[in-house]
Amino acid sequence: MDRVRNPYSPGAGTRPPALVGRDREIEEMDVALQRLLLGRDGRTLMLTGLRGVGKTVLLNEFEQLAEARGYFHEHIEVSEDGELPSKLVSALRRVLLAMDAKRRIGDRVRRALGVLKAFSLRLPDGPEIGLDIEAVLGPADSGDLSMDIAGLLVEVGEVASDHGFGVLITIDELHYVALATLEALVMGLHRASQLRLPITVAGAGLPTLATLSGEAKSYAERMFNYPVIGSLTGDQAREALEVPALDEGVTWTPQAVDRIVEVSMGYPYFLQEFGKQAWDVAEEPEITLDDVERCMPLALAQLDDGFFRVRVGRTNDAERAYLRAMAELSPGPIRSSEVAKLLEKPLTALGPTRDRLLKKSLCFTPRWGEIDFTVPLFDQFLRRWLPDLPHLD
Ligand SMILES: Nc1ncnc2c1ncn2[C@@H]1O[C@H](COP(=O)(O)OP(=O)(O)O)[C@@H](O)[C@H]1O
Ligand SMILES: [Mg+2]
Repeated sequence: MDRVRNPYSPGAGTRPPALVGRDREIEEMDVALQRLLLGRDGRTLMLTGLRGVGKTVLLNEFEQLAEARGYFHEHIEVSEDGELPSKLVSALRRVLLAMDAKRRIGDRVRRALGVLKAFSLRLPDGPEIGLDIEAVLGPADSGDLSMDIAGLLVEVGEVASDHGFGVLITIDELHYVALATLEALVMGLHRASQLRLPITVAGAGLPTLATLSGEAKSYAERMFNYPVIGSLTGDQAREALEVPALDEGVTWTPQAVDRIVEVSMGYPYFLQEFGKQAWDVAEEPEITLDDVERCMPLALAQLDDGFFRVRVGRTNDAERAYLRAMAELSPGPIRSSEVAKLLEKPLTALGPTRDRLLKKSLCFTPRWGEIDFTVPLFDQFLRRWLPDLPHLD
């Protein structure tokens, strides 16, 4: 159909035409933002879930909520190197400059920038803060990461509090951050929250997100809720397909919708991709089962090229064999011992391969001794891509 624009947009992180089934998370976050701004305690969210379920889209939603509630907001996307402190400095610097631009805060902001500068100078690759800013020693340059992050957050939180603002930093792909750094962030945030400062973080990551322990764990449990973001229910998935089309005066036959809900298993990214392709092949303002069947090879090819294959791009032969063996044993959590049996190798010999797959966030361990994919429907892709189980010598 080309008479109207295609309303489905399967780009990662792009806002879906209908954001379905996430009302509770949005509500919780909104309540937390309001409470924090009033100096009360409020739990923001740490979203976990597989790839393509809509974590990034939700973080973007939180940004909208924050702005509507009088917050300054910055977004951080952690990359595979796991680096966080220097990105945090840059984000906080932008927040300070934005607050200053709005209220001409002047000296107080200069001092806070000086605190950021002292912190940044200690980092191997700390961002440049500005030659005219003098480093302020003391609050955030002790060399103890959790104390120093606390110093940064308190500094920026005080400026915000003085002017009736809140500060929200969203952090995506948090699973790449090392445990010690994540703990330091939590400890730092805890300090700011003890002082009732309106500065907070919301985050998202794969289920491989480092598991906190001890003090950091108990603080984190008080400051965050950890909802698992997953596939949509059948009704929600149908709504995600039908609503955007209806807005354009287009309907789906029930069989057509059901077929997509079935093959996508309700995973948002796949719903969008199948919806997009079915829309493109449909010729009438009613999308039929026949349209869906005709678009299927193209939709799968798109997913293979654009979504799945990038994930296996940097795997070696042993890792691919391991993944393929997992696919053989899917769906559901897979016992590492079963993988070893299938590949005819001792469990210990496969340990390093398994660890690398976990480190690359391709897999996670739902329970001790078990392993599963972080990418939904990855087993189906692997079987298409490597029809035969590879032999390891
Ligand atoms: N609740 C939802 N309803 C409908 N579509 C959604 C929903 N959440 C996400 N999507 C769509 O799914 C795709 C993946 O979302 P994204 O936020 O990138 O996932 P993640 O960050 O979990 O990998 C995007 O194209 C988005 O538009
Ligand atoms: Mg994402």
